[in-house]
Amino acid sequence: MGRQLTIAILAITAVALLHSTAAQQTHLVGDKFGWLVPPGGAYAYEAWAETQTFAVGDILEFNFTTGEQDVARVTKEAFESCNISNTNATVETTGPVYFKLETVGQYFFIGTKDKRCELGQKLAINVTANPGPNPSPSVPAPAPTPRGPVTYTVGDKLGWIVPGSGYAYATWAYGKTFIVGDTLVFNFVNDTQDVAVVTKSAYENCTTNNTTAVYTKSPVSILLNTSGEHFFTSTYYRHCVLGQKLAINVTARSTATSPSGSVAPSSPTTSTGGPGSAPAPFSSAPSKIGSGHFTFVLISMAAFFFY
Ligand SMILES: *[C@@H]1O[C@H](CO)[C@@H](O)[C@H](O)[C@H]1NC(C)=O
Ligand SMILES: *[C@@H]1O[C@H](CO)[C@@H](O)[C@H](O)[C@H]1NC(C)=O
Ligand SMILES: *[C@@H]1O[C@H](CO)[C@@H](O)[C@H](O)[C@H]1NC(C)=O
Ligand SMILES: *[C@@H]1O[C@H](CO)[C@@H](O)[C@H](O)[C@H]1NC(C)=O
Ligand SMILES: *[C@@H]1O[C@H](CO)[C@@H](O)[C@H](O)[C@H]1NC(C)=O
Ligand SMILES: *[C@@H]1O[C@H](CO)[C@@H](O)[C@H](O)[C@H]1NC(C)=O
Ligand SMILES: *[C@@H]1O[C@H](CO)[C@@H](O)[C@H](O)[C@H]1NC(C)=O
Ligand SMILES: *[C@@H]1O[C@H](CO)[C@@H](O)[C@H](O)[C@H]1NC(C)=O
Ligand SMILES: *[C@@H]1O[C@H](CO)[C@@H](O)[C@H](O)[C@H]1NC(C)=O
Ligand SMILES: *[C@@H]1O[C@H](CO)[C@@H](O)[C@H](O)[C@H]1NC(C)=O
Repeated sequence: MGRQLTIAILAITAVALLHSTAAQQTHLVGDKFGWLVPPGGAYAYEAWAETQTFAVGDILEFNFTTGEQDVARVTKEAFESCNISNTNATVETTGPVYFKLETVGQYFFIGTKDKRCELGQKLAINVTANPGPNPSPSVPAPAPTPRGPVTYTVGDKLGWIVPGSGYAYATWAYGKTFIVGDTLVFNFVNDTQDVAVVTKSAYENCTTNNTTAVYTKSPVSILLNTSGEHFFTSTYYRHCVLGQKLAINVTARSTATSPSGSVAPSSPTTSTGGPGSAPAPFSSAPSKIGSGHFTFVLISMAAFFFY
């Protein structure tokens, strides 16, 4: 009797603990860009996953347009081969899909349409039992670590091309922090592309006859030497309309965090786009704190409209 009571109390306590500590979190896969073929390949979702902590009870939200994408939880083998033949994977075709993480362990998801998985629409995560200390949303974002100038390769491995989607470069830029002194490098095949520095109006309307500067020889390195919005497109026919356009916000280098001489902008880092390289394609570390803390917000809607 006494033993049963103890067990009952333990059970109640356990349930209460679960309720109080396991604040169930919904992870929006790819943040606001959702579930699609990311520019540059699978590392995009790898990098996104690195910014998250997945715990039992959490929910993955795959946000996509029904008919354009789908998602299936698959085996590790199917994840690696991008082949779901001879598996019993259930393909969810109606977006958004909410997937509850019921158990500890590894989970694998892919898009099954066309070559989407091969092109990088794939996500592998590890789900843990303990959520750990839950960062309260009211905790302010940690002060950005002072960093030296960063060289960003636009589109990473994709380079500067007419991408498969109108939001490719918006996706690439999303979550990246551009600071005065950083450099953009555009890689392309000579005589097939160019880089046009344009005004906001030219960017939005994809006009090619009023450019601030045009660079034709790859690689093009552009030092971001002023703060504010910067817009890049192409003078090639319809390239801009088809998605070859990039808008970024460049912030002034903070002087408060760099007492004279102590923050040497002497060791430029290079964004290679390889796995594990910072910054993440979708979001930098404070993604859980809310998009309001991102140091910039992108204009991607124009790209959507032209898509
Ligand atoms: C899901 O995608 C749709 C269409 O792009 C967008 O309107 C909506 O805001 C997205 N939902 C979330 C939670 O981001
Ligand atoms: C997928 O796997 C099945 C057998 O498991 C095989 O018959 C098929 O050829 C594979 N498809 C591709 C594209 O590799
Ligand atoms: C598919 O499901 C059937 C019946 O549940 C099972 O016998 C079979 O082993 C499953 N196949 C795979 C590849 O999981
Ligand atoms: C998950 O954990 C396993 C074992 O610790 C590890 O090998 C694997 O790389 C992890 N996967 C991810 C996506 O973090
Ligand atoms: C370009 O688009 C903006 C709206 O985005 C509009 O106000 C402007 O008049 C357009 N300019 C030209 C030259 O078409
Ligand atoms: C051309 O660009 C300049 C700024 O570079 C702007 O002042 C001017 O209005 C633009 N002309 C047209 C026709 O868009
Ligand atoms: C650019 O071309 C558009 C029509 O294609 C025209 O309306 C506009 O005035 C031109 N702008 C300049 C600066 O020539
Ligand atoms: C493009 O042309 C420039 C100048 O002719 C040359 O230095 C560069 O190597 C070329 N780049 C590529 C990718 O072919
Ligand atoms: C900024 O860089 C551009 C080329 O990258 C250069 O033409 C311009 O003179 C620079 N402006 C300043 C203020 O250094
Ligand atoms: C730059 O930041 C401003 C203010 O936050 C925002 O309105 C604008 O859309 C941003 N532009 C780009 C290109 O991200």
